[in-house]
Amino acid sequence: MRRDATPGVRRDGGTAPGLSRSDGDGGEPAGGAPGGVTAPWPVLPLPTGLETPTLVVDEVALERNLARMAAHAAARGIALRPHAKTHKSCFVAQRQLHHGANGLTVATLGEAEVFAAAGVEDLFVAYPLWMTAERGQRLDRLARVAKLRVGVDSVEGVAALAGALHNPASVEVSIEVDCGQHRSGVAPELAGRVARAAADRGLVVAGLFTHGGHSYAGPSSVARAAEDEARALARGAESLAAVGVGAAVLSAGSTPTAALAHGPVNEVRPGTYALNDRQQVALGSCAPGDVAGVVAATVVSTAVAGQAVLDAGSKALAGESKPLLEGFGVVPALGGAVVRSLSEHHAVVELRDAPPALGSVVGVVPNHICTAVNLFDEAVLVREGRLVGRFPIDARGRLG
Ligand SMILES: Cc1ncc(COP(=O)(O)O)c(C=O)c1O
Repeated sequence: MRRDATPGVRRDGGTAPGLSRSDGDGGEPAGGAPGGVTAPWPVLPLPTGLETPTLVVDEVALERNLARMAAHAAARGIALRPHAKTHKSCFVAQRQLHHGANGLTVATLGEAEVFAAAGVEDLFVAYPLWMTAERGQRLDRLARVAKLRVGVDSVEGVAALAGALHNPASVEVSIEVDCGQHRSGVAPELAGRVARAAADRGLVVAGLFTHGGHSYAGPSSVARAAEDEARALARGAESLAAVGVGAAVLSAGSTPTAALAHGPVNEVRPGTYALNDRQQVALGSCAPGDVAGVVAATVVSTAVAGQAVLDAGSKALAGESKPLLEGFGVVPALGGAVVRSLSEHHAVVELRDAPPALGSVVGVVPNHICTAVNLFDEAVLVREGRLVGRFPIDARGRLG
């Protein structure tokens, strides 16, 4: 993908600027994290006439987030390979490449296929793919059009990968090491065994990767998780060196830990930072004003005292509860009121103030933006309250 191309975005001339009824001044404290932690949530001005529920992306905050992370990585001489599972969109991917990303990270072959078809030339499937003959053919096809790196964390996985590929040398592998999340990834001390098996099967070992997902336990876990990432990669590299395999790329990163990447880390893979969400605010990864993605929803009922019902249920907000957060989202335009419960098409907001006008449109900051984005076909792009375009969620539903 050319860095100056603008695939996938349909620019509109812009609709009438202005705020819907729900757009207040913002700045009210918002409940959200337990323990009385509050944050002032600025209200994103929404264009009038939105069909809801709609995924809305604030172009100004998006660009700021992308530029900030790119500058941070560049200043430390660390390659930035954003995880595209957050936005699943060629438009945002193009903006990330424009800001200097070295390539993209993806979670699935389907995502890789979408971005390769859009011209992204360097892709890392940061996942311990389990190979079948059919997946091997898909990887073979991908390797013809893009530089490909895939994750492995077992000798068995290496054998399945090498066996499924027409030419094992056409694909690089990265050995996943567990740095403390205890999800996938081999213990760093055992990485050499997997790397040796890969090299013996003709696969090209690019290096190691790890994901400090235990940073999500809370703000006080972030620095330790970043430290764990660096230590696991250093130990893993020693394990590879002991079996005579080099580890050129030492890849780490979640959104919370990316800012603290150091030591041997020479590539980071944050994803959520592009749009941010309520969880990232609670973790301290970003300020409330850095949230670039909200779900716009209409107030459809205030019949029950003390609550408002929005037309964005679990099929729009994804309904992920998080240990750090109460409820399923926060509504800045309603004084930081919390979405207390969800049905498929109803979000029940516990009001702090007088009920909003029926029919008014408000933005909901979801707990986790990645799973919310995955529920929409397209996003509406806004700038200072004006609708300036729409872009498709190109890799939506490409789960395998
Ligand atoms: C392997 C891997 N790398 C990078 C990321 C990006 O992390 P974040 O969502 O915190 O930006 C994830 C997120 O799930 C991941 O699983």
